[in-house]
Amino acid sequence: MLATMGGWKRWKRRARDQASAPVARARPLAPPRAPRAPGAPHRAPRRPSRSRFARGGRPSAAAAPPLPPSATRAPAPDRARRRPQPPPRSIANTTTPPPTTPAASVDELGNLLPPSVVRRQAKAEAAAAAALAAGENALTASSPGLPAALKETTPVSIRAAYDGASVFLTGASGYIGSVVMEQLLRLTKVERVFCVVRAKRGAPPDSRIDKLLQRPLFHALRGAGGTIPAATRSRIVVMAGDIQAPRVGLSDGDWKTVTSQTTHIIHCAASISFADPVHALLSQNYEATQGVLALAAACTELRTFVHVSTAYVNGHMPRGLVVHETTQDLAMPDGAPLDHAALAARFRAASAADAEAEAATILTTCGLPNAYCLTKHMTERLVLDTAETAPWGVAVVRPSIVGALAKAPFPG
Ligand SMILES: NC(=O)c1ccc[n+]([C@@H]2O[C@H](COP(=O)([O-])OP(=O)(O)OC[C@H]3O[C@@H](n4cnc5c(N)ncnc54)[C@H](OP(=O)(O)O)[C@@H]3O)[C@@H](O)[C@H]2O)c1
Repeated sequence: MLATMGGWKRWKRRARDQASAPVARARPLAPPRAPRAPGAPHRAPRRPSRSRFARGGRPSAAAAPPLPPSATRAPAPDRARRRPQPPPRSIANTTTPPPTTPAASVDELGNLLPPSVVRRQAKAEAAAAAALAAGENALTASSPGLPAALKETTPVSIRAAYDGASVFLTGASGYIGSVVMEQLLRLTKVERVFCVVRAKRGAPPDSRIDKLLQRPLFHALRGAGGTIPAATRSRIVVMAGDIQAPRVGLSDGDWKTVTSQTTHIIHCAASISFADPVHALLSQNYEATQGVLALAAACTELRTFVHVSTAYVNGHMPRGLVVHETTQDLAMPDGAPLDHAALAARFRAASAADAEAEAATILTTCGLPNAYCLTKHMTERLVLDTAETAPWGVAVVRPSIVGALAKAPFPG
């Protein structure tokens, strides 16, 4: 890892030097020193500093004689000029020719890409082009590692899939769930979003969602008066509940509505705490998902179940390995593969201290960093096992670390 970072830094420095090469060459070599005359002092009188003052900054107080041209340096280019710049976004009617910078070594944000990444991208693009030429659609062609059985043969439109849909969304009050809700409302013709929300710090579920809708995230949905139009607000159906409770804490009426109308489930809710005890994480991640899966099983119109997992369910894989979008085995201390149901039952039956001790042993032997990742790994296995016999489709999404929005509804 360190060697790789060192290589990347060296490469980046070289690339920068090359970009500024003409400026570097413009600096003439210093003239050879004349031999010291007998009796002359050993040191020449101090030359004025060639600091930023000599390069056009604030003048020095002691007005020093100007430097000979041979000693002056061409002004340093600013950082932006040193870096190769990305090609401009295409603008209609533009007559400016694209810059000569090779686009392959700079991404669309202007970051330098190391040669290994450029090579890998070229390889993936070639594989995708070959797959497209062989008649595959763009979605599957961009995932050449996908097993053939999982490859779609017809074009897929996520937006169209939500036309007239009724979505049951968990975690709408959270970081990712709120973005999912905004995108469903803004980008799709989804009919209803059922949000299961718990009361928190005295705030009832409805008012929590209304407060959420006032955030800048939802600005694109607001009408002229700065409020969410009634037609949009009515697409959000807030239901009081708690996914850790039996029947996800829904009232009988809400349970009936959800199970008879839901066509899609997007399950974002979880505890993302790395420090919570195993019992709490088991309850919020694994057992709560059992509850959401039980609701899915009761839905008569359900088509898909999207489970939000994490890239770190594979945190035990060796560094540098390319991890394909498949499940990876997790070996237990006795060498046997993970049996998520048995482990969950063992954790639940054990005292808090014993569950912690067993989790610590498992983490040490299997290589996962914390109990959050372990319970998310168990949960993903639970979802995939359930999906094998379910009449609906399952998609597992594995984000890595989620940061600020890149683009819509606004960057930041
Ligand atoms: N953030 C990341 O960088 C990241 C990276 C990879 C994967 N993920 C995954 O993405 C998903 C969402 O993460 P996030 O960052 O959005 O987390 P978050 O901001 O903490 O949101 C968690 C959401 O789950 C809800 N929730 C938790 N327990 C609940 C319960 N018992 N009943 C009802 N709702 C409950 C929370 O509701 P309250 O508001 O009531 O607490 C909140 O809306 C998780 O599955 C996480 O594992 C996140």
